[in-house]
Amino acid sequence: MMGVLGSSSSSLAITVVLGLILNAAVSYGGTSSNYSRTAFPTYNNTDMPVDSEAFYVPPGINSPQQVHITQGDHVGTAIIVSWITPTAPGSNIVLYWSTQENGTKIQLAEATIGAYRYYNYTSGFIHHANISNLQFNTKYYYQLGEGQYARTFWFVTPPAPGPDVPYTFGLIGDLGQTYNSNSTLAHYQLDPLNGQTVLYLGDLSYADNYPFHDNVRWDTWGRFVERSAAYQTWIWTVGNHEVDWAPELGEPVPFVPYSHRYHTPYEAAGSTAPFWYSIKRGPAYIIVMAAYSAFGN
Ligand SMILES: *[C@@H]1O[C@H](CO)[C@@H](O)[C@H](O)[C@H]1NC(C)=O
Ligand SMILES: *[C@@H]1O[C@H](CO)[C@@H](O)[C@H](O)[C@H]1NC(C)=O
Ligand SMILES: *[C@@H]1O[C@H](CO)[C@@H](O)[C@H](O)[C@H]1NC(C)=O
Ligand SMILES: *[C@@H]1O[C@H](CO)[C@@H](O)[C@H](O)[C@H]1NC(C)=O
Ligand SMILES: *[C@@H]1O[C@H](CO)[C@@H](O)[C@H](O)[C@H]1NC(C)=O
Ligand SMILES: *[C@@H]1O[C@H](CO)[C@@H](O)[C@H](O)[C@H]1NC(C)=O
Repeated sequence: MMGVLGSSSSSLAITVVLGLILNAAVSYGGTSSNYSRTAFPTYNNTDMPVDSEAFYVPPGINSPQQVHITQGDHVGTAIIVSWITPTAPGSNIVLYWSTQENGTKIQLAEATIGAYRYYNYTSGFIHHANISNLQFNTKYYYQLGEGQYARTFWFVTPPAPGPDVPYTFGLIGDLGQTYNSNSTLAHYQLDPLNGQTVLYLGDLSYADNYPFHDNVRWDTWGRFVERSAAYQTWIWTVGNHEVDWAPELGEPVPFVPYSHRYHTPYEAAGSTAPFWYSIKRGPAYIIVMAAYSAFGN
């Protein structure tokens, strides 16, 4: 286990319970990181500007952006790949292959394409593809988009569930998109304990801090975390900043931006709600619970 908690600049505590039951008999993950972010000037608790290089927009017209992956089934042999194309639906195809698994046999998965409106914001085209029947403990490459601007990423599947398999989880919550957020993410990525999967404790973009919950800040956050979330699974939990319940804006349905952008493998767990689910991943049985899931109902 390792822990990297993000900004605690607001008065909001972590508002979601994430139950993690590790097999107590064997743990090769080492001890928790002792990282404690040094005090930054107040300036660095402000959000990075929309045009910051931390929110890098990939070149090319309508290139896939905000790429992120999460576990797609109960045991870790499926992956949900998600991405957004800003101006047109574009290709819904994910090409994927493993060099460990008989060379370059390229396989294909198809994504669903959706979009949503929030107040006067209209999202880009949001793609989710479920890649299944993967081998455990295997590195896969995947490619999104077309032509010279196609983008290639990779991930490593976890070992088969069991008590005696080494695996390392990072814990990140309340990340937001300030200068401090950027140093927190950099710290996680550079940590020699080498977290293999992030257990995300809720409160992602903090877009709801902006007037009209400016959903452009959901897009900047998606681009910000891509540098990690496209390469390793982030296991999602919601916090109060995902609720986005704003009847005064004509938005009486909770979780609209989050639900369109972040999918979870709740059905594989026999759950009926995406905010409540469980997965096995390596040595851990992870139970995700969301204190806000009945909000507004
Ligand atoms: C954190 O751990 C590192 C490596 O074990 C050690 O060098 C450092 O002194 C520790 N820092 C604190 C504040 O405990
Ligand atoms: C804010 O953080 C950045 C990067 O972490 C650092 O380079 C910069 O000096 C900080 N700004 C201030 C005003 O301290
Ligand atoms: C790789 O190819 C060999 C020979 O064709 C086959 O026996 C084996 O099952 C293949 N392995 C995988 C993981 O597809
Ligand atoms: C949404 O409305 C606000 C307030 O009128 C305005 O400042 C903003 O530019 C609008 N955004 C879009 C995308 O129309
Ligand atoms: C964000 O962090 C990365 C990695 O440390 C760094 O290269 C970049 O300069 C940072 N950007 C800002 C705006 O602080
Ligand atoms: C992905 O596919 C696997 C295998 O068919 C299935 O168990 C799982 O529920 C699917 N996940 C999603 C999110 O559709």
